Amino acid sequence: MAIRHNPACKTDRGPGDNPRTQTPVQFVDVHCHCLPNLDDGPESMEEALVLCRALAADHIMTVVATPHQLGRFEDRTKAETIRRTVGVLNHALRERGIDLTVLPGAEVRVDERIDEMLAAGEILTLADAGCHVLLELPWDTLIDIEPLLVQFRLRGVKTILAHPERNGPLLERWQMLGRWMALGVGLQVTAGSLTGRWGRGIARAAWGLVAQGGRTCLATDAHDGAQCPGMTQAFAAVAARWGDAVAYSLLVENPARVIRGEELAPVFPPEERGIW
Ligand SMILES: [Fe+2]
Repeated sequence: MAIRHNPACKTDRGPGDNPRTQTPVQFVDVHCHCLPNLDDGPESMEEALVLCRALAADHIMTVVATPHQLGRFEDRTKAETIRRTVGVLNHALRERGIDLTVLPGAEVRVDERIDEMLAAGEILTLADAGCHVLLELPWDTLIDIEPLLVQFRLRGVKTILAHPERNGPLLERWQMLGRWMALGVGLQVTAGSLTGRWGRGIARAAWGLVAQGGRTCLATDAHDGAQCPGMTQAFAAVAARWGDAVAYSLLVENPARVIRGEELAPVFPPEERGIW
């Protein structure tokens, strides 16, 4: 696959080049709002294709489309609608010669109906693999999701929390997050958070969450093609701090495990004083 440069993406290192092997790193993105006309992502197929070109230019080969399920987009993101739209987008990508594969998924808002809807097949797991639900917590209040986690476990489904570093109420209750992680919860930290897209406070929280170790992966949470998706930049930042192996685990191997339907592997970066 040819290396493609996205001019919006600036990094000190080459575009996804692993200095150890000099081969381009190919990413899987497990959180992206790339489907047209379903949620707060692209409003048209053309906008969706602009975003998909940006993903491909950032060395993402496979992306899980994760439109918001439940919450304010509930009426527009039924499971069958998502699967059908993924098929339409993949067809358009092939027609335009864009080297990217889209898989179905969802970012699911916490809701008391989730477990019942999951059992009924109305909630999509990531990549439709039946292994992980990508769960979005409310932004303004903290709900203890432990009962839901237990219900999911009984169904053999694992939970990945979407961008915990951006959830203010959660960051004030680290013990609760620790309890959830002890129950096997995975964390999806957003690549752009590490590189400062949302400011220093969120960057510090993002690095802190990754540094503490756990079942962690990175993803773009991209909504449009105007911004760099940020996987290449984040890979370079993590590799510079903790080495290529940790960067691979967070940005390549664990996302690949998600689409294979395998549990995220724990990743423990080397201890580092003063990271907070
Ligand atoms: Fe999202």
